[in-house]
Amino acid sequence: MEEPGTPLVAMTGVSKAYGGTLACDHVGFTVRRGEVHALLGENGAGKSTLVRILSGDVTGYHGTVEVDGQTVTFGSPLDARRRGIAMIPQELDLVPGLSVAANIFLGREPHTKAGTADRKRMHRETRELLARIGIALDPKRPVGELRTGEQQLVAIAKALALDARVLVMDEPTSALTGTEAERLAEVIGELRDAGAGIVYISHRLGEIGRIADRATVLRNGRVTGEFAARDLSAEQVTEAMLGRPVQALFRVRHTGSTGELLRLENFALRPRRYRPGRREPAGITLTVRRGEIVGLGGLLGSGRTELLETLFGAGTPGRWQGRMWLDGREVRPRSPRHAVRLGLALVPEDRRIAGLALDHSVRANTVLSVVDRLATAGFLRRRRENATAGEVLGELGVSGALADPAGTLSGGNQQKVVLARALLTEPDLLLLDEPTRGVDVGAKAEIYRLLADAAARGIGVLLASSEPAELVGVCDRVVVLRDGRSERELDTHDAGEAELLAAAMGEIR
Ligand SMILES: Nc1ncnc2c1ncn2[C@@H]1O[C@H](COP(=O)(O)OP(=O)(O)OP(=O)(O)O)[C@@H](O)[C@H]1O
Ligand SMILES: [Mg+2]
Repeated sequence: MEEPGTPLVAMTGVSKAYGGTLACDHVGFTVRRGEVHALLGENGAGKSTLVRILSGDVTGYHGTVEVDGQTVTFGSPLDARRRGIAMIPQELDLVPGLSVAANIFLGREPHTKAGTADRKRMHRETRELLARIGIALDPKRPVGELRTGEQQLVAIAKALALDARVLVMDEPTSALTGTEAERLAEVIGELRDAGAGIVYISHRLGEIGRIADRATVLRNGRVTGEFAARDLSAEQVTEAMLGRPVQALFRVRHTGSTGELLRLENFALRPRRYRPGRREPAGITLTVRRGEIVGLGGLLGSGRTELLETLFGAGTPGRWQGRMWLDGREVRPRSPRHAVRLGLALVPEDRRIAGLALDHSVRANTVLSVVDRLATAGFLRRRRENATAGEVLGELGVSGALADPAGTLSGGNQQKVVLARALLTEPDLLLLDEPTRGVDVGAKAEIYRLLADAAARGIGVLLASSEPAELVGVCDRVVVLRDGRSERELDTHDAGEAELLAAAMGEIR
């Protein structure tokens, strides 16, 4: 019999270098039975690298990995899975063209007696898995049609289906709203009680004290501390991660707003062709003044992303209803290009699809939007490019070579490149869809400061976020969407997170 507390996994002296970068530097890390072990650290600290070694996704490291006291060398994620280790990766590895069920059972499809894939069983078990994490999705829908948050839930279901003894979750809640994240926390509690070991990575520090039993903090690839995580406050975690406290993280206040910039009146979209799972705008009334940051709240699927995409000319083709004014002029962005000409910029939810060219350099990605402005006599001036990209990225804490492919950056640092690019365009109206997804606490504070600066220059900001604390702390007002409609508007000077949640659930009328 296994003694309670025997490590399921023990990593000792684990190091991994990428060129000159030491992503992990002699890291020691254990996972015990029946514990949730949080792994914390700034963007680029080495968290993903460490867990990708553990799950067989990254090879060619130094040091030892033991499972149940035996040294193992995994050549692939499949090897790790055979030893009971499963991972939900930070950058989801779902196949967009395949259905939800096909993704969940990829490579291990059950078969009928006739030898064909047993779709009925796959669909039934998929429904059960999804119900367990509190979401109803059609198992037949292609994953590529789903929102990022829904894809994240599918990836979670896929990992749960493996019945792993060690479950590694690399930022599983980054695209989830509070309600779904809470349901996931319950599921994690059940798995722990059943004796599994869970590695949990998150930049939502408020979750750590509730979910985790222990926490290991990484800085520049090294372990800087291990803590009992129960009741650890977000402030304590922050200090361990950054080596300094971060003050005034939220409540970034800026000086007053001026004229009206955006006005939507009963704004709605009648799609030409119905696209399943999309919540098109169905009656939205709101305003954004110059110098104002207005939040968009609501549950997963309330239509925040669809609204921002439609305003940016990137939504579902269809007939507009209601009206949109920009700076007093009635407009209707037909395409993203047109929207940019009208003075709009959008930071999309999924940086990999609409955001970044991963093979291109960090520099090229950052200045993509301002190429016209920087071009002199038809060619790009590299020096100016470097200065522009370097300055903004430096402020956001992205270090490293600007010439490296964007794909070599850590997840959070990729997000910062997308945001830097939008800020560099100096739009009139900045549309942000989960701009701090996966961004560390120090850089978040910096992003809020940059947004407040932009607002002080007269830019209007419409910010969709699933983090109530972010909405309440950063925005002047929050418009809560529900079923594609503007349900309610809250003034953040007198409304708190609890009211925001209640409004999203439709409890307040
Ligand atoms: N494939 C790669 N090629 C080159 N460098 C890489 C590669 N993968 C990671 N790195 C570098 O290794 C370091 C650690 O990255 P890692 O992704 O482990 O960070 P992280 O702690 O998960 O950050 P985040 O919170 O942003 O996800 C970073 O400096 C990153 O740029
Ligand atoms: Mg990571």
